[in-house]
Amino acid sequence: MNTTAVNTRRFWLMGALMLPLAGMAASPQTMHMDVWKAPSCGCCKDWVAAMEKAGFSVRVSDTGNTGVRAQMGLPAQLGSCHTARVGGYVVEGHVPASDIQRLLREKPDALGLTVPGMKVGSPGMDGPAYKGRKDPYEVLLVRRDGSTSVYQKYA
Ligand code: CU
Ligand code: CU
Repeated sequence: MNTTAVNTRRFWLMGALMLPLAGMAASPQTMHMDVWKAPSCGCCKDWVAAMEKAGFSVRVSDTGNTGVRAQMGLPAQLGSCHTARVGGYVVEGHVPASDIQRLLREKPDALGLTVPGMKVGSPGMDGPAYKGRKDPYEVLLVRRDGSTSVYQKYA
């Protein structure tokens, strides 16, 4: 076996070893998420299902979310029907999983993300009942002082 053949073999061996690692890095790691919601709310359940589909492991508390939201320091006017805690951040309302994954990747100095209110077309508000209707909405980044900036726009 000449040197080139050895190097080629070594290259393939490294490739075989690296491939599973690369796969792990590319797929979002399983992150734990706590969610507080009202027991009767269907859109919260649908949002939780969307989060689980995206790879989050979710623990749901049917205690309502107003108390927890206030405790976490998220202003009531930025509120929605459910409040989540993931990776030390607050996630309020129907925030898409991709924005949460970006938040956890970029780790800004902030309180978290919110989609205030109930925007039709957002994850959990996109079931057959809405007949494909999509309202434009924004995901807001909430800073620790309660001020916000647009994190992502959905048209
Ligand atoms: Cu909702
Ligand atoms: Cu809900």
